[in-house]
Amino acid sequence: MKVLVTGGLGFIGSHTVVELAKSNFEVIIADNLYNAKEEVLEKIEKITGKKFKLYKYDLCDKEKVEEIFRDNNIDAVIHFAGYKAVGESVKKPLMYYSNNLITAINILEVMEKFNVRKFIFSSSATVYGDNGHTKYVESMGRGKTTNPYGTTKAMIEKILEDLYASDNSWNITILRYFNPVGAHESGLIGEEPNGIPNNLMPYIMKVASGKLEKLNIFGNDYPTVDGTGVRDFIHVVDLAKGHVKALEKAPNGLNIYNLGSGKGVSVLELVNTFEKVNNIKINYQIVERRAGDLAEYYSDATKAYVELGWKTEKTVEDICRDSWNYEKNNKK
Ligand code: UD1
Repeated sequence: MKVLVTGGLGFIGSHTVVELAKSNFEVIIADNLYNAKEEVLEKIEKITGKKFKLYKYDLCDKEKVEEIFRDNNIDAVIHFAGYKAVGESVKKPLMYYSNNLITAINILEVMEKFNVRKFIFSSSATVYGDNGHTKYVESMGRGKTTNPYGTTKAMIEKILEDLYASDNSWNITILRYFNPVGAHESGLIGEEPNGIPNNLMPYIMKVASGKLEKLNIFGNDYPTVDGTGVRDFIHVVDLAKGHVKALEKAPNGLNIYNLGSGKGVSVLELVNTFEKVNNIKINYQIVERRAGDLAEYYSDATKAYVELGWKTEKTVEDICRDSWNYEKNNKK
């Protein structure tokens, strides 16, 4: 099966390309390098021992999307490409709506034209919004999103539902990721945020390597196990494997799956585990809560286990060790 992976050089995309190649899928990569480096391609090739065709195209250009489909006999698309910085999306909503929505619509229109009907969408737990629950189950439906980035994910999910309602020959899988962290165990690929990171694990990495002085923990007065926020951290390699399972096992039709560990881990627990596993001290201070943060949420990951035979295999210790291994190998 020939799979087009958009955003295939990004954090989750690159790990997914590796797992697809390991399972003998033929992979074509499209990535405009907006938030990824071309050298990731060589690293993926080194890990897998395979070569990949890369289209450095902006998928907002429908002509370019068509060209990819004309050149290759594509059977399925995994769509990662998109802008993903929550804070930036609040400041530049139009940029987020135009890029994320146009790209998705272009791909779907071209798929329709070329009669390709298998689509996997990279969505997020953020679509559940602040719904009053801590454990998110797929049957809850979408809540009110809190930023334009999250709203683009919810809007694309809705577009996919409408598309499927109009034509049941589509096979659409929506994967809602919880908090993807970690890196490939080879230390060759991992997360490369631009500038000062906003997300927790990349920030811990910068403190561990001495590039930033201390971690700010946003609040220790939440109603959680130790007062700090609780999230469902998922190792990116487990997440990547979830995509392979979705391609292989998702039933026909439109299906939605949470991809998470099913367990909540607090910010302090993550910091403590990182210190213990890597024998490094993380300087931190407790500061005010960050606007828009929820106290606690994690996945109910039962559906992916029952229907796809997928569950996370890696531990929080693996996450901390692999993240640091990548950071050490890629010190600049
Ligand atoms: C956010 C996005 C989510 C996105 C994810 C990427 C929302 C509401 N959330 O999740 O859609 O998929 O990033 O992984 O859109 N924290 C600190 N100090 C820091 C950074 C974070 O204490 O310097 C805390 C936060 O308060 C939170 C936890 O760590 O409790 C996780 O934060 P973060 O990594 O930014 O992810 P989310 O906000 O959960």
